[in-house]
Amino acid sequence: MSAQAVATEVLSSSSVLPPFAGAHTAGGQDFEVIPFNAGLGAEIVGIDLGKPLSVADFARVHRAHLDHHVVVFRDQRITPQQHIDFSRRFGKLMIHVLHQFHLANHPEILIVSNIVEDGKPVGLGDAGKYWHSDISYKPLPSLGSLLHAQELPAEGGDTLFANMHTAYETLPAEIKAAIDGKVAVHSYLAKYDDMKKAANWRPTLSAEQLAQVKAVSHPAVRTHPETGRRALFVSEGFTTHIEGLPEDESRDLLNQLFAHSTKDEFIYRHQWREHDLVFWDNRSLIHLAAGCPTHLRRKLFRTTIEGDLPY
Ligand code: SIN
Repeated sequence: MSAQAVATEVLSSSSVLPPFAGAHTAGGQDFEVIPFNAGLGAEIVGIDLGKPLSVADFARVHRAHLDHHVVVFRDQRITPQQHIDFSRRFGKLMIHVLHQFHLANHPEILIVSNIVEDGKPVGLGDAGKYWHSDISYKPLPSLGSLLHAQELPAEGGDTLFANMHTAYETLPAEIKAAIDGKVAVHSYLAKYDDMKKAANWRPTLSAEQLAQVKAVSHPAVRTHPETGRRALFVSEGFTTHIEGLPEDESRDLLNQLFAHSTKDEFIYRHQWREHDLVFWDNRSLIHLAAGCPTHLRRKLFRTTIEGDLPY
């Protein structure tokens, strides 16, 4: 089957909005959506995000994002402002609590980097060390994030994405029953102290920063507000416990969910290329930064779009 036929089939399979597939040019850019073999993810080939997108082109990108959950735009030589402008078309941007790692004059961008200059980290070096959905610790967690490569290591530095729809759908019946209607608590501080002790990236949070990250409760299984598909919504990085269960039962259930949701068959592994921009859906996926040798420089810019109240 050709890439275009595959695209048509996959794009059609879970549509709520009308599907768009193949190359379209009328009034817009000539680009294609090519799904990966991984069961999630697609590459959008031939688009320039530095140019304004027509309404129809934007609708195709939006559709591809909903259908494939993570979309990869290659060779995007865009400025931080263009990155922000494109991200804003999907919703309000969130400002990360670690203002220490905002890009100068662009607080909408979080610098993710292992580079240390003059003894100071230029970005958050251990971002994504544990599986997580971005900013799930806020009352309105993120819709999606856009990560743009600035400097890449010659080795390592991949990002892994796990499909929480298929993870939910393939849960054993007794675990599905055990989490049905349950509420999970998410906290930015879940792993903060461990990570602070393990490496030198994380600042001590001020009282003002702590006030911004009070723990929140969300359904352990959420419904995607745009596609109607159900997805697991817990992660090792931010979920501390399930409300209403004894501590050991909650830990045991969460450990089973974490192990199940990160099985190889649910994962797309992104190997970064220069100037890639990767846009994922935090309502459908969790992700993990695989890490790279510490002497190799890695720097990416991230914007994070606010989403809806999970239900
Ligand atoms: C993140 O979790 O946002 C960072 C992912 C990465 O650095 O690969």
